[in-house]
Amino acid sequence: MFRKKVIAGNWKMNKTATEAVTLAKDIIDEVGRETSVDIVLCPPFTALSAVAHVLEGQAVKLGGQNMHPAKNGAYTGEISAEMLRTLYATHVILGHSERRTYFCETDAFINQKVVTALAHELKPILCVGETLAEREAGATLAVVQRHVEGGLSGVKPEQITTVIIAYEPVWAIGTGEVATPEDAQEVCGAIRGRVLETFGADVAAAVRILYGGSVKSSNVASIMAKPDVDGALIGGASLDPDEFVGIVRFRLHPPELVS
Ligand code: PGA
Repeated sequence: MFRKKVIAGNWKMNKTATEAVTLAKDIIDEVGRETSVDIVLCPPFTALSAVAHVLEGQAVKLGGQNMHPAKNGAYTGEISAEMLRTLYATHVILGHSERRTYFCETDAFINQKVVTALAHELKPILCVGETLAEREAGATLAVVQRHVEGGLSGVKPEQITTVIIAYEPVWAIGTGEVATPEDAQEVCGAIRGRVLETFGADVAAAVRILYGGSVKSSNVASIMAKPDVDGALIGGASLDPDEFVGIVRFRLHPPELVS
């Protein structure tokens, strides 16, 4: 089955609203009308509104980096699904390893967010992935499956294809140490296998699974060439417009030309 590739930029806690507008404009000048891949920009909350204006009329989509599962209420510092939707966000990153590690987010809590996001027609980008210690202990697949199952618990099969799963090994995030294409394929393939067991063949064939962790324009093509990798979630390199545009145009760098 054809699965449209996704390239999502996670700007993390970088860029003021003014700087974010400049970055978004630099990106859309080059790939604003690109429809051969789905492009999602995820600026910090404080820049969502400004970037939403820049993206008006473009093919590039807007995403949040997190949200709270409650509809509203006394959750100081948090934002809701509806708040994201009314700023024209279509996607939301959930369960990023930095949220799991620094903010103690559990699979159960992330699952509540996934369910809420879907109820508000936001596409979750559900991040899963093992730490270095877990990889060295041979627990990679078990950890990733636990994240996938925990994050997707109670989600209806017809909703699963709206979810984008991002395999992000923690040891590869921001370290410059990218997973080999074979490692990325092994885990993304295993995730698809688990989705197949739980939700059936049609859902497994349609759900998009990304790789994330030190992706750059120089290494993206060989990872994207793998059959179960349907795109990439980009951190550091998404802050550099030339790099990000280079990643979006991964088809111009055939893997065999990449060292
Ligand atoms: P990185 O981050 O590309 O800087 O490794 C990826 C991510 O955290 O999503």
